[in-house]
Amino acid sequence: MGKRIKNICCIGAGYVGGPTMAVIAHKCPSLNVNVIDISEERIKSWNNKNTDEIPIYEPGLSELIKKCRGKNLFFSNDIKKHIAEADMIFISVNTPTKTKGIGAGKASDLKWVESSARQIAMYANGFTIVVEKSTLPVKTAEVIKSILQAAQQSNKNKKNSATFSVLSNPEFLAEGTAINDLINPDRVLIGGEDEDSIEALSQIYNNWVPKEKILKTNIWSSELAKLTSNAFLAQRISSINSISALCEATGADIREVSRAIGTDSRIGSKFLESGPGFGGSCFKKDILNLVYLSEYFGLPEVASFWNEVVKINTWHQHRIAELITKKLFGTLSSKKIAILGFSFKSNTNDTRESAAIQICKDLMDEGAFLCIHDPKVSKVQIAKDLNCEPINNNVESTAIKDQDYSGIWQSAIDIKMALKNADAAVILTEWEEYSQINWFKFANTMRSPSWVFDSRSIINPKNVVDAGLNFWRVGDGVT
Ligand code: NAD
Ligand code: UGA
Repeated sequence: MGKRIKNICCIGAGYVGGPTMAVIAHKCPSLNVNVIDISEERIKSWNNKNTDEIPIYEPGLSELIKKCRGKNLFFSNDIKKHIAEADMIFISVNTPTKTKGIGAGKASDLKWVESSARQIAMYANGFTIVVEKSTLPVKTAEVIKSILQAAQQSNKNKKNSATFSVLSNPEFLAEGTAINDLINPDRVLIGGEDEDSIEALSQIYNNWVPKEKILKTNIWSSELAKLTSNAFLAQRISSINSISALCEATGADIREVSRAIGTDSRIGSKFLESGPGFGGSCFKKDILNLVYLSEYFGLPEVASFWNEVVKINTWHQHRIAELITKKLFGTLSSKKIAILGFSFKSNTNDTRESAAIQICKDLMDEGAFLCIHDPKVSKVQIAKDLNCEPINNNVESTAIKDQDYSGIWQSAIDIKMALKNADAAVILTEWEEYSQINWFKFANTMRSPSWVFDSRSIINPKNVVDAGLNFWRVGDGVT
């Protein structure tokens, strides 16, 4: 029989903490869920009266927030109070790649995890279950346990002194489908040693997840399974993208190849769509982490195997920028390119590690004038990612071309503005609205000979070619 849980606290109100806690609050009305963060701005934004302006765009999330916020779901900066009240605490903070010191460029920076553990050590009361929700290198639970045990020792004689149990419960949600992934998960993974704590966490999930989908492992297997899962998914994308280059060289078609191999039930059809290269905050960082761990444990061959998955992804992004340049007669100066899509995938406003960032930078280095459109990503975010401010929206593209500005960008209000006078359109995110563009309508507004580059295979080639435009799409050896 697990401990009865009444109050849950989640440290980190990010892409994982916010949606995950919203689903727990929705499915478990008897629980009190408090999401805390050090960022006042983030909490303020989660508490925005207008739920369309919460910090994360995720289909279905705003409805859940409307339903639960203020009832059994709260967002707060009062870290001390909510840790003290909690029976169970999820650590859901960022774990980016280290930028300095030992393991820089590969290992995870555990600064935020450590600071969360110290906050828990300082403020927790009574028996508290601590759950690792962040993606962590195998053996991180050891670090958390040491910090908590040290606190336990020094608080031994105090009233209400805290004792702890640590579990690993990695998150497998994907952005853009987070709410559905949380409500209908393929599996929930719980790693740990203390049966009662595992049971207490399972009981929460049992409110909506069938028992047979809750997998229980030891804590190290759970931590490593999360990294491995992301590495396998990313590896499939790098594999299919590498074959797309071969398709273009040989006359094969990557969509046909994907279909043919995906119908083999041992391979399966998911994650075989060739695109501009994988993005998102986790694939690259988690593989680099795996590379670091393999090196650390004296397995250089294993490290180099996984490192290639990241290397080929970067190569593929440069390859796309390069072929756009080649098709446009080898030079992009005085040319306007409409960039359609900046987020790393559709249905999210997240741009972290988006392939669009590298491809846009490469095109700007070649002297292009980019007019960038994305239905959900803000101008401010794009400027941050490109490390470059946009020119004013009122400046006409013809004027820009005449003056031979190079390597600049403008934010497009709509697709029409992006395409006006453009020499090319490059689709980088598979937003639904781009698949429905009426190319007959826009072809005359572009400068001919104009091109459409579809890195997501969302356009019917006939619609583009019949409108008199040149067409390229990823992995298409016959266009
Ligand atoms: P995020 O950057 O969106 O959010 C993390 C939040 O934690 C930030 O708001 C930050 O201010 C807060 N924070 C950091 N230290 C804190 C502290 N000591 N006290 C209180 N708040 C603190 O990150 P994310 O995308 O939600 O990712 C969190 C973890 O989940 C990472 O380990 C990531 O690898 C993993 N993960 C992410 C996804 C995803 O789709 N983004 C999916 C599965 C797993
Ligand atoms: C990924 C995993 O799918 C989640 O299970 C995991 O929890 C999460 O990482 C994490 O740990 O952060 P996410 O990055 O949100 O989720 O999105 P994915 O759907 O996996 O897409 C990642 C990238 O791969 C995107 O750029 C996407 O466009 C690309 N992709 C995906 C392809 O190019 N082809 C495909 O067939 C699938």
